[in-house]
Amino acid sequence: MVIYTVTTYTGNRHLAGTNNFIYIKLRGTEDESEEQNLYCMQGFWPGSEQEFKIDCKASLGELITVKLFSKPFMGLCDQWFCDKIRINTPEGDEIFFPCYCWLDWNEKLYLRPAKASLVFQDVKLIAQRQRMRHLVEQQKSFRWRVYAEGTPQVIDHDSATTLPPEVQFSFTKENEFYLTAAQQLVVLKLTGYADCRNSWESIQQLDICENRSKTIEYCREHWDEDEFFGYQFLNGLNPMMIQRCSTLPEKFPVTDDMVKDSLKGSSLEQEMKKGNIFLSDYKILDGLVGNVVSGRQQYLTAPLVLLYCNPHGMMLPIAIQLMQKPSKDNPIFLPTDSKADWTLAKIFVRNAEFGVHEIDFHLLRTHLLAEVFTVATLRNLPSPHPLHKLLFPHIRYTLQINIMARSQLISKDGFFATYTGVGGRSLEELLKRATASLTYRALCLPDNISDRGLKTVPNYYYRDDGRKLWDIINKFVAAFLSHYYEHDAHVKKDTELQCWITEIFTNGFLGSDSSVVRTTPLGIPSSFQTLQELIKFVTMVIFTTSAQHAAVNSGQYDFGGWMPNYPTALREPPPNEKGQTTEKAILETLPDVGTTVNGMAVLTLLSKDAADHYPLGHFPEHLHDEELPSKLIEDFQKDLEELSDSIEHRNKKLELPYTYLNPKNVDNSVAI
Ligand code: FE2
Repeated sequence: MVIYTVTTYTGNRHLAGTNNFIYIKLRGTEDESEEQNLYCMQGFWPGSEQEFKIDCKASLGELITVKLFSKPFMGLCDQWFCDKIRINTPEGDEIFFPCYCWLDWNEKLYLRPAKASLVFQDVKLIAQRQRMRHLVEQQKSFRWRVYAEGTPQVIDHDSATTLPPEVQFSFTKENEFYLTAAQQLVVLKLTGYADCRNSWESIQQLDICENRSKTIEYCREHWDEDEFFGYQFLNGLNPMMIQRCSTLPEKFPVTDDMVKDSLKGSSLEQEMKKGNIFLSDYKILDGLVGNVVSGRQQYLTAPLVLLYCNPHGMMLPIAIQLMQKPSKDNPIFLPTDSKADWTLAKIFVRNAEFGVHEIDFHLLRTHLLAEVFTVATLRNLPSPHPLHKLLFPHIRYTLQINIMARSQLISKDGFFATYTGVGGRSLEELLKRATASLTYRALCLPDNISDRGLKTVPNYYYRDDGRKLWDIINKFVAAFLSHYYEHDAHVKKDTELQCWITEIFTNGFLGSDSSVVRTTPLGIPSSFQTLQELIKFVTMVIFTTSAQHAAVNSGQYDFGGWMPNYPTALREPPPNEKGQTTEKAILETLPDVGTTVNGMAVLTLLSKDAADHYPLGHFPEHLHDEELPSKLIEDFQKDLEELSDSIEHRNKKLELPYTYLNPKNVDNSVAI
């Protein structure tokens, strides 16, 4: 007889313990153990380590899997959150089997040892079979589904409750989310306003909410100032729209005469040559029809905004045209127009910004892409795969939050359809247009910044912090992957990896025929030929799911909580001549009271950090049990801490600190 010592580690979290009967079966290269009940009188309680002995007739050989399953205790069923299992073998080895997920009473889990391996390194037949069996099961549990033609495919689950346990919310997160959603209006003390269809009587009347951050206060004081309007193109909720302008588009016939005051006597051509002129073009919204909100037609525009970076480094708007086609009815608004005309033009831009930011840069480029990476990872990379281990923290809660977004935010009766101008029919069309225009370079921050001509623009904190984060992630990813892939040939022969990228190419980016096409027309690869290609792509995946999401998500209430700065819907058409706008007309155009407060409630909810969130670089899952990856994680954390310190130091000097890409504030995954 030989004895295997099994130690269970129950997660130290709310409701992680269980009184269920937990069964275990060990499988090795030579034999397998009997199924054994890990019986303990007191049950498994949160944070506990419990030891059990398993008798076997002889050595099982090299341990390949641990099977865990549970049966109800006296008819009571609950879940168990197991962090990991440790096994001490009769040969004197100590082997960890990471788990880090819930085990329901009707579920089975097959755990693999923590040591990572590529498919061609897992040479034992039994290990290969287990690897394949695991993927077959995963591909049954995580299926692709077409959400809408021309947009990335999504997970084939309608309800978050039917998801397998390893991707479900924790109880903490679930309770917080549901409670917050239901009670946000109460927290904001705005319940009494929720059904009011009246216009606001004045901008000052909007000052009803006490729950405000420093940034909301700043928005309230500065929302109609040009400097703050321009600042937001660089460091606001959406730092992705602005680009350097070297030739004025024909559709935007701004003349020197129009901007002579703004340029202090210089000409557009001179300033373009110096690189001081910038453009934000919302052409993606052209022709979209506004939604109907509370029975009333809403209006969308597709503005062009010309900006000037003045000698003090301030980015200032100098001309706005609200529709794409120049005409008499589509005047070019200027800072020298009446304050009401200029303010209303900027309000239409901010409303266009709401649509483009939420649907393209937030929903598509972070949430839906994160879901593509998640589904492809779960379907194609088994748990021993090093890339599975690397990416697992970055896919946490993403499926669940996206399923909830599809049922509560972008559904036919969700928030966008009910309270936003871009909701309804136009939302799907906008999503399609955004998908069709999405390039690989746009997702890779250094390429993106270079293509938009923004390498040298001053005071661009998103770029400065984002670039440093990109480099830190890239350094970590390069060292990690180089440890497992010694050369390009390893990358080419990793069939699991190649299936992973092919599914991302086909199901996420809608590429066709990956057998002959190396990339989509917009550069998304269909396979990896070199380690460098792989490192860049994985850096993009981790950057997108962590930093980029934080940049476009976390400030939603900060910048959107003061409604005129981020109106969700506009009730009057854009002005077609100058000199007609009054303050009353502005109030009649802005969202009504109910739409405003419901928008505020949702934006608060979407900006919240969960109590159990993990900042970038903190991996509670402990999926690694090797010296080098553990060392690389330590180095990664050190680099992130240094960046955090330098950002905090820089921010002390800023009137409005840029905090969204401070690694401490960046979640590992798209989880809200
Ligand atoms: Fe989000």
